[in-house]
Amino acid sequence: MNKKSSAASPIGIFDSGVGGLTVFRAVRDLLPQEDLLYIADQAKVPYGNRPLQEVQSLAEGVTSYLMDQGAKLIVIACNTASAAALKHLRALYPDFPFVGMEPAVKPAAEQTLSGKVGVLATPSTFQGELYASVVERFAQDVQLFQNTCPGLVQQIEKGYLNTPKTRRILEEALDPMMKEGVDTLVMGCTHFPFVIPLIRQITGEDVRVIDPAPAVARQVKRVLDGWGLLAERKRAGKSVFLTSGDVGEMAFLLPKLIGTKAEVGQLRWDNDTLFLRKI
Ligand code: DGL
Repeated sequence: MNKKSSAASPIGIFDSGVGGLTVFRAVRDLLPQEDLLYIADQAKVPYGNRPLQEVQSLAEGVTSYLMDQGAKLIVIACNTASAAALKHLRALYPDFPFVGMEPAVKPAAEQTLSGKVGVLATPSTFQGELYASVVERFAQDVQLFQNTCPGLVQQIEKGYLNTPKTRRILEEALDPMMKEGVDTLVMGCTHFPFVIPLIRQITGEDVRVIDPAPAVARQVKRVLDGWGLLAERKRAGKSVFLTSGDVGEMAFLLPKLIGTKAEVGQLRWDNDTLFLRKI
């Protein structure tokens, strides 16, 4: 465990941008007494078009910042960063609890009736060995249809959850899948659950959409419990938000995305190290 942390310490959660807030929201709902420290690495978003090696080193930088702040557990609320760095980080810090993500192909394969499953994720996630292993383990009896939805992460970063361009990107991804008879869709990027209402408009209500965030939150609870690290305080937990990008833009989006108004702190990269910019 992190020497600086205890059950009273915050849970660290990070993503390239606002996508991990879909996971933040689920963790906050399930564990309201926990303090949460959320980092959006928006100076580097999108991660999904970068080489896995580069994403690994960014994830390592964010992780080391969160550990320095005394995080007791880190949620890699990003499929791309999990694909690039989860194994590496666990090897680097064997005595520290991480919760990562992998595209939810397993529940999708269990639930599909047509045997046809759509997966939406970033190019780097599809390239990683984590995805290959998920496909090998769980998708032997189903047909997968993959799409990277180019430009969608950037639209969501701007808060454009239901604009004509966002709709066009999703239609280009989903129309061919619908024609093939896909009945289950996996949100393999944490940004994408923010556009589930629009996805439903395009696919109709009969398609099952799998957002892994609630399952990830349950896993966070199990792991904390296993390590004896669940917070026992009576008061509601506090949340802190930091970004390496534009603090004003993120603060503006928080109420729209997760119904929370909060100040956002400024992080800066200096080579491979993250620093909080003192105001
Ligand atoms: N939200 C991220 C994911 O789950 C990455 C998006 C990006 O930065 O490309 O993959």
